[in-house]
Amino acid sequence: MAQQLLQIKETSVRYKLPSGGSFEAVKGVNLAVEPASVVGLVGESGCGKSTLAKAVCGLVPVSGGEILFKGNPVAPLGMRRRPRELMRIQMVFQNPYASLNPRRTIGSQIADGLRANPVKDSWSVADLLQQVELPTETQSRYPHQFSGGQRQRIAIARAIAAGPELLIGDEPIASLDASLQAKVATLMRKLALESGAALLFISHDLAVVRIIADQIAVMQRGSLVEQGSAAQVWEDPQREYTKRLLAAIPAVDGMGRLPGVNTVTEGKI
Ligand SMILES: Nc1ncnc2c1ncn2[C@@H]1O[C@H](COP(=O)(O)OP(=O)(O)O)[C@@H](O)[C@H]1O
Ligand SMILES: [Mg+2]
Repeated sequence: MAQQLLQIKETSVRYKLPSGGSFEAVKGVNLAVEPASVVGLVGESGCGKSTLAKAVCGLVPVSGGEILFKGNPVAPLGMRRRPRELMRIQMVFQNPYASLNPRRTIGSQIADGLRANPVKDSWSVADLLQQVELPTETQSRYPHQFSGGQRQRIAIARAIAAGPELLIGDEPIASLDASLQAKVATLMRKLALESGAALLFISHDLAVVRIIADQIAVMQRGSLVEQGSAAQVWEDPQREYTKRLLAAIPAVDGMGRLPGVNTVTEGKI
């Protein structure tokens, strides 16, 4: 068996509520990501996907179980100095404004990523822009001068620039037009794998996840309810919940793509 890059073991995350109580948003999740593979994490809005992603990055503490990255426990930020190893995880969010600074040129922000890359001289800013299909001369522009899809590609370029071993996309295509979703998702897969990284791709949209993921994990109310190869989960779902997610995808063609205008909206499935 291949050595796992990421091991999420019996992991739970509990939020403290202002009322004094607590809410368990992630419940005893087991999930592994092998190096250079793509795992899709799907489930309806509010099921705990982002919480699990934050726990992997050490942005929220786990209340049970453990998360190992290359065999080392992920420590919550602030509790101790962030281990250098954790820098090898990069995250791309739904809204690229969350990760791009509106006041700085995109070239300087991609260059920041390159400075964090332990392998020096691996790429240039121009290489990375080319990889995400943007003209080199756009590097002196600011985030607002780009479309939503272009901004998301810039955020992906910056994440890849840092040379991650694990790239996490938390609903990275949810804010994009339907016509762009599969394209950006496919690009993310390609760049992650070509740069030697694994990809944990989070989405509420099983149709797009199916196109790019090797493995699919289905989450419902904080628990993983189904896990398997993308083909298995797509063609032979075991759980009613997964079947409902599949049934909510309108008129999917044989390639798993949605025709024309998007009719899947967040929260509907
Ligand atoms: N900081 C928080 N405090 C309390 N509850 C939270 C907090 N963040 C998220 N939650 C709750 O945890 C659950 C999972 O949220 P989240 O991980 O964002 O789900 P998803 O990304 O799948 O939409 C939701 O019920 C949400 O309301
Ligand atoms: Mg989320």
